[in-house]
Amino acid sequence: MPERSRRVTVDRTPARPYTRPVGPAPIAVYRRTIAASVARVWENVLDWEHLPWLHRTTFAFVDARASGPDGWTAETALVWDPAHPVVVEVTLDRAELCYHTRTIAGPGTGTDIVTRLTPLAWDRTGIEVTFGVPDVPPDAVERVGRVYTTLYARLWDEDEGMMQRRQAVVDGVLPTEPLALAVDGHTLEASGVCPHRGGPLPDCVDGDGCITCPWHGYRFDARTGAGVGGHALRLAPSPTRR
Ligand code: FES
Repeated sequence: MPERSRRVTVDRTPARPYTRPVGPAPIAVYRRTIAASVARVWENVLDWEHLPWLHRTTFAFVDARASGPDGWTAETALVWDPAHPVVVEVTLDRAELCYHTRTIAGPGTGTDIVTRLTPLAWDRTGIEVTFGVPDVPPDAVERVGRVYTTLYARLWDEDEGMMQRRQAVVDGVLPTEPLALAVDGHTLEASGVCPHRGGPLPDCVDGDGCITCPWHGYRFDARTGAGVGGHALRLAPSPTRR
């Protein structure tokens, strides 16, 4: 095997000054304060898996193509328009405390939604969302802008509750939530805190004898506590039959 060369080629081309890409003109801005830390917001932004579950009234599905610590790319569709999927790219700029949600394929390609974060306290974050949407006729700007701000108000409402519970999980102060699952004539006692990220597990067992977490859709067998559908998590503490 040839020895690896130790020679290093140095590129002495002068660096070009950074120019921020120019997106479409903003049609609306949405501002609010979220009762959660910046850390919880970043966690939520990277958590593509929760979109079709926590936001089940908005997203029909999410099919991730790539994900990492600085963002993700996924195909998704809105519940009211499932026949026209889009590809969305989310990129974080932690240094600038902002992230972009860009539509890179499908209807609305070129849309660039920029969310800026302002830390206000350990458990409060200011949010400013600027909606850059291409090709909106001037007489439709107000109406389309209202659609976006109304949608984002609902999404952030749903996310805020999740982030607050997540903080309690991270801090170890979430109250005990015993769960009693009645199936096949037996009752299984388990923790009602999902072993994935701490979501609130329901006590309603489906026809397959399983329960489904409302945050990311992980399923658990209510007879054994074992994970169903390919994940290795199980209900905690170890379930016992009575
Ligand atoms: S918290 Fe993720 S599936 Fe329950």
